[in-house]
Amino acid sequence: MKIAIGSDHGGFEHKNAIIEHLTARGFEISDFGIKELASVDYPDIAKPVSLAVAKKECDLGILVCGTGIGMSLAANKVKGIRAAVCSDHFSAKYTRLHNDANILCLGGRVIGIGTALELVDLFVDTAFEGGRHQKRVDKITEIENMQ
Ligand code: RB5
Repeated sequence: MKIAIGSDHGGFEHKNAIIEHLTARGFEISDFGIKELASVDYPDIAKPVSLAVAKKECDLGILVCGTGIGMSLAANKVKGIRAAVCSDHFSAKYTRLHNDANILCLGGRVIGIGTALELVDLFVDTAFEGGRHQKRVDKITEIENMQ
């Protein structure tokens, strides 16, 4: 499985730890930056990560900023992206099971690195349940296609 990842300065340390963790687990990683600690605008990172996932160049994405919120707002503007901000284990699991979320957004100033790694594991290890949830996800796509 190939994972696209990116962060701004608010999530830089978390991103590096996630890359190390997922690489050790055998995942292929596309790192869209930032590559060194510098202040950047989170939409500039959310955009290439979201496009890589939307174009199916990567299977899932992970975005980290200070809160996770800015990244999720930007990512969800890209057609085909369902980005979820998660700070707890239940949400990280169920956003895959029920929402078929394809990008996990984390807040580097909200959760510690240990929690972030556990949420990442839940996210990448959980498959969409389909069934009754498919029709609900399809309705999200219908809203997206209205515009
Ligand atoms: C950057 O200071 C901060 O605004 C950003 O990382 C993020 O939290 C935005 O949602």
